[in-house]
Amino acid sequence: MSHTVIVTGGAGFIGSNLVRWILRWRDWHVVNLDALTYAGNLDNLRQVEQNPRYHFVHGRIEDARLVRQVIEQYAVGGIIHCAAESHVDRSILSAEPFIETNVRGTLVLLEAARACSIERFVHVSTDEVYGSLEPEDPPFTEESPLRPNSPYAASKAAADCLVRAFVHTYGVPAIITRCSNNYGPYQFPEKLIPLMIANALEEKPLPVYGDGQQVRDWIYVEDHCRGLIAAYEHGQVGEVYNFGGESERRNVDVVRAILRLLGKPESLIQHVADRPGHDRRYAIDCTKARQQLGWAPTVDFDQGLERTIAWYRNNQAWVNAVRSGEYRSYYRQQYGWRLSESSQGSSQEA
Ligand code: NAD
Ligand code: TYD
Repeated sequence: MSHTVIVTGGAGFIGSNLVRWILRWRDWHVVNLDALTYAGNLDNLRQVEQNPRYHFVHGRIEDARLVRQVIEQYAVGGIIHCAAESHVDRSILSAEPFIETNVRGTLVLLEAARACSIERFVHVSTDEVYGSLEPEDPPFTEESPLRPNSPYAASKAAADCLVRAFVHTYGVPAIITRCSNNYGPYQFPEKLIPLMIANALEEKPLPVYGDGQQVRDWIYVEDHCRGLIAAYEHGQVGEVYNFGGESERRNVDVVRAILRLLGKPESLIQHVADRPGHDRRYAIDCTKARQQLGWAPTVDFDQGLERTIAWYRNNQAWVNAVRSGEYRSYYRQQYGWRLSESSQGSSQEA
């Protein structure tokens, strides 16, 4: 019988790209366990929903009974844990759901992995657990101390610590991966790149936080997916692997590049109040993944950005659909605080 893996959060951005990747490149069965929060969308998986190796289970990872039932029913061999509350700005508005899903949910999955003797567990984490870098600092390595600054990053660091503890205490065969900022198709338009593309297409203001000089390292989502599978197949239990795109960019330069590629004016850029506690710079050293997993990023940032823009241009109905409903009220709340604190912003809704 072929191998079966659970992808938690498979209806989200990275999860849905990962599910498609696995079904295309491996002969495994994939069980997508997803609660379908505002960020989870089954439209992201239309291309594979008829595939007999794809299975969807609607539910929360904190539901211990459900998790065990799914593992038993599908004879699951491994778990790739993507499910999370993933947006820093939301965690600033309310940390509670981040603790519930990212910390308690991870604990429930680890307990189930232990009880059901799961063979492999990849915990999908983030470089944000390392905190912020100064311009002259070397990039984060796997040995960098955990110094999370946002409630989101703190919840992910707490989950990472639980994974480590379950490896050491109970021998759960888990691996932690920490990746830099992803971009690509199906990313919810609350994150920088899809938000800016979606707003620019509609000629709405592009809200740049503070001076826009913050630096992120950008990785195309498929490169991350390949890294997750490399860690799943070849990683050493108990190890941490960093993934990054080796493409550091200032936010304002990313936004300008999007406007240039779309032929829109820079006057759409609107500097708004800075994010509280905003991390200045992330950069990641992926030497370990290169040397030990034979992995390397392959998509150059300019090429990846063009591909991403083309996808959003061709999928504006998807953007409109995910921006409707609950998201709109959140968005108003979000822009409420941002614009009220802004010295430069207008009160126009983005
Ligand atoms: P996302 O917000 O797009 O998707 C999250 C998915 O998890 C959604 O489908 C949602 O419905 C599901 N989910 C949320 N709470 C759940 C719960 N309690 N039970 C079951 N399902 C639940 O997130 P993403 O950007 O795809 O990120 C995926 C993972 O990768 C996260 O763990 C995130 O921390 C990590 N990560 C993301 C990035 C990035 O740039 N997006 C970078 C590094 C690491
Ligand atoms: P984001 O995509 O939220 O990812 P993260 O905070 O996890 O790095 O933001 C990326 C960068 O873009 C970050 O420095 C915040 C900034 N940003 C803006 O300037 N304006 C925006 O509207 C958003 C969403 C982000």
